[in-house]
Amino acid sequence: MNPSGGLFWHWHAWRHQAQWSGACADIANWLGEAPMAQGRPAELIILGASAGWMVPSAWLQGFSRVSTFDPDRWAAPLFRHRHGAALRASGTALDCHTGDGLNQLDTVLQAHPRALVLLDNVLGQLRFLTPSVDEASARIAHITKRLHGRRWGSVHDAFSGRTLRRPGTGLPAMQRSVQAAATSEGNHPSRAVALGRFSRQLQAQGDWLDHLTDQVFPQGTPVHHIAWPYSAGYCHWLQAGWVGA
Ligand SMILES: C[S@@+](CC[C@H](N)C(=O)[O-])C[C@H]1O[C@@H](n2cnc3c(N)ncnc32)[C@H](O)[C@@H]1O
Repeated sequence: MNPSGGLFWHWHAWRHQAQWSGACADIANWLGEAPMAQGRPAELIILGASAGWMVPSAWLQGFSRVSTFDPDRWAAPLFRHRHGAALRASGTALDCHTGDGLNQLDTVLQAHPRALVLLDNVLGQLRFLTPSVDEASARIAHITKRLHGRRWGSVHDAFSGRTLRRPGTGLPAMQRSVQAAATSEGNHPSRAVALGRFSRQLQAQGDWLDHLTDQVFPQGTPVHHIAWPYSAGYCHWLQAGWVGA
């Protein structure tokens, strides 16, 4: 069983499309701020694409080619099903790969030297796909290091947990901050402040799960904070940012 994707994810995403519409609109706004290449047709790589449940076709249509990577065997056919017609209409080539794009990142990057890279809600999942928390953190650091010199962005879980808020009661609007410098212990002080603020706004209950993504972005990266009502009584706090070459 795939703990971060697979049939359960597709069923859950399909069923909660209305409940997720606010978070998807926030993600669409952030996607619209992607650093695009000047003067040449733009290519996009999506790692952790699944069926692209939270990415609008209209944004994908702005690229000349979209290449997706996900080990889930249902991801490629469902991505084509959801976005294929729109991409054919815009003349955007679509290559959906069933495979581990993260472990083969160097090969993928070499094959697409000028592509914009989108890590699509996958980095925060690595703690479920890696034997230990330390290994997950090290793997995330390794991945972001490999992306140095590229134009890339990531939307990922920062924290998740139980909430008193009921679906449909309204969630805090998207908020922005700038990635602060880490302390000597490797922590980001602004994250603790944001955690307190977001926890209150989301009416968090109990301890929230840390998805180990606090060091994904380099210092100075503009970061969007997005509330994602994953299911009744359970909410994720997403962070999204773009890093220019
Ligand atoms: C939370 S889902 C995100 C889905 C997708 N971004 C969407 O909007 O529907 C995380 C996805 O990451 C995929 N994934 C896990 N490990 C991966 C890897 N090494 N390379 C690429 N994708 C991976 C999972 O199979 C899953 O589909």
